Amino acid sequence: MQELVSVNSVISKPEEAKISVYDRGFLFGDAIYEVTRSYGKVFFTIEEHIARLRRSAEAINLDLGKSDQKIIEEMYALAKEGGEEDVYIRLQVSRGNCAFQQVSIKPKNTSAANYVMYLHKLKNWEPKYYEKGISLGVAETLRNNKKAMDPNIKSGNYLNNILGLLETEGQYDDCILLTKEGLVAEGSTFNVFMVKDKTVYTQPDDFDILQGITRKIILELCESNQIKLQKKAFSIEELLQADEVFVSSSTKEVMPVLKIGKQNFQEGGGEITKRLASLYKDYVIKYCEKAAKDHPIDF
Ligand code: PDD
Repeated sequence: MQELVSVNSVISKPEEAKISVYDRGFLFGDAIYEVTRSYGKVFFTIEEHIARLRRSAEAINLDLGKSDQKIIEEMYALAKEGGEEDVYIRLQVSRGNCAFQQVSIKPKNTSAANYVMYLHKLKNWEPKYYEKGISLGVAETLRNNKKAMDPNIKSGNYLNNILGLLETEGQYDDCILLTKEGLVAEGSTFNVFMVKDKTVYTQPDDFDILQGITRKIILELCESNQIKLQKKAFSIEELLQADEVFVSSSTKEVMPVLKIGKQNFQEGGGEITKRLASLYKDYVIKYCEKAAKDHPIDF
């Protein structure tokens, strides 16, 4: 496969892709992004990703300057050029460039938004993460408070999450970030669920988390399959005493948690985690079959 990068609609090899040093994403993290993957040739829940990109843009008053349709077309064009199925795309949109020689955080005099799309072959998680599970450390770094920098804005600035990861690096696969009150917010790049007494717990929708698109599907799957669900914040102590813990994201799908700190959970996940993982896979297949029929893609 050709790994490619598109910068403001110009496609080039990764080593040739360039962006200005005056780009506000580079300078200040003044950018938003989405990560999405294709199954075969179909970008899964692509409309939802672009809708979330638009919500993030509105929340930071960034003018996307392109229709949803145009963005989706460009993503498909890039995947077609790469000529590969099962790909990963990171779409990053910064507010634009500061005027030359005017490095100022004030958004005045900024150019139009810069679009960068990274097309990579999807790196599947090693089977051990599903057969056993992921290990997580609890970071002392807190998740950003939604009144400071709302995690629901998918901002290109991941310093908060990186600080959490730096603490747990080398000891665990990844980290969980808490709120100031000791409640579980989310992982560095994923949502966190617990199962207790056959009920799935997730945070309320207005909590300090990114509302994951995978999470939303899991909630729908719980409802349509009579799996009890509670949208209720839970503490780290409650999480450690849960019967099952799993995480979700576009690239991880439903992944069991094997260990949090010193606390171990069942290898490969408990009954409900396994059921949701399998329901999610079925959902993906049905979605992709329908999408391929409705909008055939020719490459
Ligand atoms: N991360 N929470 C955070 C902080 C995330 O960065 C992500 C996604 C999620 C899950 O969202 P979704 O289910 O829509 O993928 C939750 C992507 C995958 C990433 O940065 O690679």
